[in-house]
Amino acid sequence: MAKRTKSSSRWLQRQNKDYFVRAAQDQGQVSRAHFKLLQLDQRFKLIKRQARVLELGAAPGGWTQYLQDRLNKGLLIAVDPLPITAGVDTVVIEGLAGEAAVDEAIDEALQGAALDLVLSDMAPNISGVRAVDQARAMDLADTALLACHRWLKPRGALAIKAFQGEGLDEWVKDLRAQFSKVTVSKPKASRPESREVFVVAQGFLGSQDDHERLV
Ligand SMILES: C[S@@+](CC[C@H](N)C(=O)[O-])C[C@H]1O[C@@H](n2cnc3c(N)ncnc32)[C@H](O)[C@@H]1O
Repeated sequence: MAKRTKSSSRWLQRQNKDYFVRAAQDQGQVSRAHFKLLQLDQRFKLIKRQARVLELGAAPGGWTQYLQDRLNKGLLIAVDPLPITAGVDTVVIEGLAGEAAVDEAIDEALQGAALDLVLSDMAPNISGVRAVDQARAMDLADTALLACHRWLKPRGALAIKAFQGEGLDEWVKDLRAQFSKVTVSKPKASRPESREVFVVAQGFLGSQDDHERLV
């Protein structure tokens, strides 16, 4: 049997002790990430039954499963380069958010309609160099924001995973000019030692161009 490294043993120990990992296993959820979205939804009332939702960074499918259970006659578009566990009603797009082919596939799924909600749990591949990883995470945040300007309806919402560090405060400040309410939230299911936070922006103001295109 392959020998475990110290860090993989520590990871296993932490997983075994983690309340939300055990709860996800007990309840047949794809991952503990499910509880982060559940808690954000309970607090911010993000997901309406008939909503059109774009989910960026959807694999392995914890949030997708939650969204599928919550939506009824809505539309869910899930994007990730990795395989996503999803039901037949979900439009799964394999690729990187922001790529032309992915944008085209989203256009096709929406058929000219606008989104009610953009969600992003995208996380960069970790290089271990903090400044590099933070810059990549901020690029992903920009990608999610671009998706809002392209497809989000006026007064729609955005919720994204972000990481505390260089550039985040400034990014959130800019976001406040684009949405009527912006909150930085740390759900209980997010590990306390992680720099991960969720930025929830409601009441999309958009630009005049966005409005003319989407109303
Ligand atoms: C933390 S995981 C998402 C977990 C997921 N929300 C769940 O509940 O199962 C982060 C995901 O972001 C994806 N990702 C990273 N960059 C991306 C990009 N540019 N476009 C789409 N997905 C991306 C990764 O492939 C990875 O699957």
